[in-house]
Parts: sequence; C-alpha cells; structure tokens
Amino acid sequence: MERIFVGVAWPYANGSLHLGTLAGCLLPGDIFGRYHRMKGNAVLMVSGSDEHGTPITLTAEKEGVSPKEIVDRYHKEHKENLEQLGIQFENFTRTSNEFHKNVVKKFFLRLYEKGYIYPKKMLAFYCQNCNRFLPDRYVEGICPHCHGKARGDQCEECGATLEPEEILEPKCKICGAKPILKETEHLFFKLSAFEEKLLEWLKDKNFWRDNVLNFTLNFIKSGLKDRAITRDIEWGVEVPIKGYENKRIYVWFDAVIGYLSASMEWAEKIGKPDEWKKWWKEEAKHYYFLAKDNIPFHTVIWPAMLMAHGGLNLPYDVPANEYLTLSGEQFSKSKGIGIWIPDVLKRFDADAIRYYLSINMPEKHDTDWRWEDFVAKNNNELVAIYGNFIHRVLTFIHKNFGKIPAGKVDEEIWQEVVKNFEEIGKSIEACHFKEGMKKVMRIAQIGNQYMNASEPWKFVKENVERCKDVLHTLARIVKVLAIASTPYMPKTANKIWKMLGYKDEIYSHKWEEALEDIEENEIEKPAPLFKKLELNEIIEDPFSKLDLRVAKIIKVEDHPNADKLYILELDVGELGKRRIVAGIKPWYKKDELIGKKIVLLANLKPAKIRGVKSEGMLLAVDRAGEAVLLLANAKEGSGVFVEGIESNPAEKISYEEFAKVEMKSKDGKVEYKGKFLRDETGEIKIFKQVEDGHIIR
Ligand code: MF3
Ligand code: ZN
Repeated sequence: MERIFVGVAWPYANGSLHLGTLAGCLLPGDIFGRYHRMKGNAVLMVSGSDEHGTPITLTAEKEGVSPKEIVDRYHKEHKENLEQLGIQFENFTRTSNEFHKNVVKKFFLRLYEKGYIYPKKMLAFYCQNCNRFLPDRYVEGICPHCHGKARGDQCEECGATLEPEEILEPKCKICGAKPILKETEHLFFKLSAFEEKLLEWLKDKNFWRDNVLNFTLNFIKSGLKDRAITRDIEWGVEVPIKGYENKRIYVWFDAVIGYLSASMEWAEKIGKPDEWKKWWKEEAKHYYFLAKDNIPFHTVIWPAMLMAHGGLNLPYDVPANEYLTLSGEQFSKSKGIGIWIPDVLKRFDADAIRYYLSINMPEKHDTDWRWEDFVAKNNNELVAIYGNFIHRVLTFIHKNFGKIPAGKVDEEIWQEVVKNFEEIGKSIEACHFKEGMKKVMRIAQIGNQYMNASEPWKFVKENVERCKDVLHTLARIVKVLAIASTPYMPKTANKIWKMLGYKDEIYSHKWEEALEDIEENEIEKPAPLFKKLELNEIIEDPFSKLDLRVAKIIKVEDHPNADKLYILELDVGELGKRRIVAGIKPWYKKDELIGKKIVLLANLKPAKIRGVKSEGMLLAVDRAGEAVLLLANAKEGSGVFVEGIESNPAEKISYEEFAKVEMKSKDGKVEYKGKFLRDETGEIKIFKQVEDGHIIR
C-alpha cells in the first residue's frame, strides 16, 4: 500500500467553473485519485474554493455586493457541480473558514519566528483618484516580458509573476487613471534563501513533464526575489503580527496552505485529528494537478514555504496541464470566454463530457474544445463503439439466458484484453490520462470485433456450449471495461456494474478484480448508456445571446462634443431608464423621436462615446451610412425576438459578437435566418422604405 496525496488547484469562488478547470485540474486529479483508491492505496485528495484576494473583491465591487456574498454563492455552486460531475474528494473545503485561517496564521508565524518573513518598505501602486492602494488585479498594464496584457501579480499571457514596478503603462482597474508608486510597508517571504535547496530537490525530478521542469528551472535560475506576502486590502486572512491590522495575507500565500489545512480539517472531520500526519509527515507521494499558469506557485513558492516550515512533505510530481481553448481562444473567467459547467451539466451527461475531455486532455500542448468534435466523439466512439458493445452483449445474454452464462474464456482474445487493461493502469500511474482512455476504448473495440467474428447468434441453438463460452468471454470483457472506466466515467461504470447483475457499487471494488472470473449473475434488460447528439441542436445560435428590448425614447439632447450624435434617454420598462449615445442626428429631428419605440440592444458592454457613457445601442438599418430606425410596438422593456430561437442572453456582449448576428432588411421588415424580427404584438418595422438586403447595425 502506498500513501498518495492528491492536491487539486483551488478554483476562485468568483464565478462558475468552466470546462478549462475541469480539463486542466479537476478531471485529471479525479482520474488519478479514483484509480489509486481502487488500487488499494490510501488516497487523500483535497481542494476547495479559493475565496480571498482581488479576484473576489473585484467581482464583488462590480456587482455591488459583499465579497462574502460572492464566495458563498460560488462555493455552493462549485460543490454542487463537483457532485454532479462525480469528482470525488476526501475534502473539498474553502479558504474563508476559520479552520483554514488558523492554520495559515500558525504557518505564517512559524516562518516569521524562523526569520523567513521580515518587514520591508516597498513601492506599491496607489490611485490618487480612488484614494487607495491597488493590489494585484486592481492594476492592469503591459507585461515587460511578453508585452501581452498583464494584470497585477501575474501576466495573463505568458504566466510570468510580476512585481508592481515592472508593469508597463499601468492603469487603475476601477477608474482607469494612471496610478503612482507610493511607499508602504509589507512583510516579505525570503524566497531568495531557497534557490540552492530548490535546485537540489529538483535534481531527481527528471520524470516531470518537460514543460513543468523547464519552466521551474528557468524560473529559479533567473533569480529568486523575496516576495511581498501581505497586501493593502480588507478581505483576506488577517496578519497575525502587531502593526499589520490594516493589511491581509496575500491570496496565494494563503491558498497554497489550503492543501495542508484541508488535510488537517479532513482528519478532524473523520474524528482522527492526527490522521493527516500520515500524508504530510510519513512516507507519501504528493501529486498536484493544475494548469500551467499555476506552475511557479506549486513548484517554487509552495515548496519553498514547506522547506521554510520544515517537517512536511514536498511535492513528488506536478503534472501541470496546458490550456483547453475554445475555438482557439483561452478560457477565462475574467474575459467571459468559456463554456460554463452549470450550463453543460444542464445539457449533457457528465460522463460524455468527462470522456471528451479525457480523450482531448491538454497534457502536452493546448487542445481545443470544438462542438463538432465533441458531437463526433460522442456519437462515433462513446455511443457507436463503447455503448453499443456493452448494449449488444448484455441484450443478447438477457434475451437468451437471463443470466451470465458459465463457460470457458477464449484465451487468445482474453490475453489481448488483459494486456490493454494492464497498460491502462500504467498510463494512469504516469499521468498519461489521454493514453489510458484510448486503451479503454480499445478494449471496447476488441470486444466488438470478437463478437462479430465469433457470431454467437449463429449457434445459440445448435451449439449452446460454444455459445456460452463466447458470451462468458464477452461478459468478462464488459466487466473489465466497467472497472477500467471507473476512474474516467464513474457513474457510467457503476451503471454497467449493475447491468452485470451486481448489487453493490463498483467504487468499493479493487482494480485487480477486473481480471477475476464473473459470477452467474441474473441480469435485467439493459438500457442504453449514452445518447446520440445532434450538432445543430447543440450549437447555440449567436442570436440567442442578444438581449433585445423595446425601449421608448423619452428625452433627446445634443451630444456636447459631436455633431452627429444625440444622447437619448430611454424607458426600458423593467430594466429602468437608460442613456445611450446614438449617431442619428443628421436624419432625425428631436421632436420626431420623442415617444418613439425603438429596438435596444440592452446587454452591449457599456462604452464611453466621445466622453459620454452609452449603456446599449439602438438597432438601425445601415443604408449607405444613413441610420434608419427599427420600430417596435409592444410595451417598453418587453423582448424582441425571432421565433424558434431561444433567448439566452449573455451578461454582456461585445460589438464584435453582435456583428456576427447578420440581420438584414426585407420587405420593410428585418429578417434573420429566414424569419422576421418581432415583438409580442407583431413584426418589427423599418422607419421608412429601404431596399432589401441592408444590414442592421
Ligand atoms: N485560485 C487559483 C487559480 O484559479 C489557484 C489556486 S491553487 C492553490 O488560479 F494552490 F493556491 F490553492
Ligand atoms: Zn482609480
């Protein structure tokens, strides 16, 4: 028996989980944890919601609610989603709980007492407009290394960790002003003291993924600087030292200690408060699952913190993943690019998602989530090979025998299955999850081919004994598949297990049992495991992202800085009053506009147009530059839509996204994909006669 610690990067509780987090951290961690539990190893797998720091406070400020409200909301959602996805933790907790905070404070004090934490004056960004320091994500600018967009403590593009004074062209995230550098005192962690020790520790880590090891070595060799580990912020773990009452511990310093605190809390919860020590102080292998932007925190800073603390196990392997992209773009909560777990869970079977992400996992390079590919893999592999094999075997057995027949296994095919099965275990142990999943699928293929070749239906009457041998062999292959699939698709595996007539849950069984003989269980008529998907039912029409509303013009003013622009005040019913800037002045008199009901794109990202904020955009026909208004009729605030396209508006959309929706003028009305734009009372009209085919802007 081995002891395995599995640490999974803690998702920030500032938004819904997205597929990138699932593919990069949660799923590989879960596959690994589940496999080792079945191998009979002692697994302690922990993570939780990362609830401090500027990612949380910025979201709270944007929504105008307290940070606590944000973290409570998303922690609850994360927990539910993990359950639905079948991600199994010994403890999934949160960094805002007292238990964690106390562990952090003790850890902090120990480093302080050992001289690894010391105070130092430094320059930090300060916004004179907002009268506050601007920690981490409150500053955005340009990365000095890659010239990409950098926010506060880390560059979004290249992943470099940054010190405030390094950022080029800094801007206050709240007001946009250029911040100044102002002196403040912070506590620093003596990272520089660990260069040698870290290099020494890394010497036998040649088995690490190349990118992880190279990134880490470069990071260390380019020189380790001491790092400020407190911030001028109110939300976070209090600094347990006098004189720092107004500061909080830096979110990353607090979060990584979560691995330890969550282990301790787990021990507490199971009523054996010392149990965590078996993983942290005795022999155990520590694996951490995370995406590449988290590498330096897990391979340099956290190990150095552990060294400074002393007496705790260091990471054994950090098989960090690359990114999952969406049509080539990086998933990002802050940019709103992604596919959100609560949405996909409403639409698809969790195991179909787990399958596609396993077979398409960004292990060595970025991989792309493509809906066509998801549908193809679901239909051609999961349904047509895997699901079909299990279904036809069990249906045939059920129909002809009602129970698994006893018989002699076909050695040749069996040996091939055994070989693949054993390789799956090796792949998972080496964290080559994609490879492992492919071999699971290979077993289903072998099974299908064997069934086709041995044609049990031909001699079910004449040679029952031979037929039983074949079916017995097939049933054993199904059993292997069930166990081999458990780490990847746990709920499906458990369904198969029950279809094989077992009364208990597959999860409590051992990996090696896959190769043991199968009993003469009675079985029921099997139900299909997976559903075929239709691509056109899945891809969301870009139109559904628009929030189009009837809006009544109640006031019209000239724009102070532009000849062609009006400032319109609109009544949008339940959405309240809105002000927008519209380029329609050359064609409409003020009187002509008052009282008119127009069509408003209500969820366009607000923008400043020549110094005036515009909260939305009216729709008009673009007739060679002339803007011809669209006219609605229904009540202010009610929706404008196209029949048959479900409305699922994004919180905010960009003009580029709007421009993808090609609406055109036709017969004095507005057409989209062959249907007319309408409100509750009827079709939307165009203010005056225009030719067909002009686009709507
Ligand atoms: N919340 C961080 C992120 O999403 C990850 C924290 S991992 C931990 O990038 F180790 F700090 F917990
Ligand atoms: Zn500011």
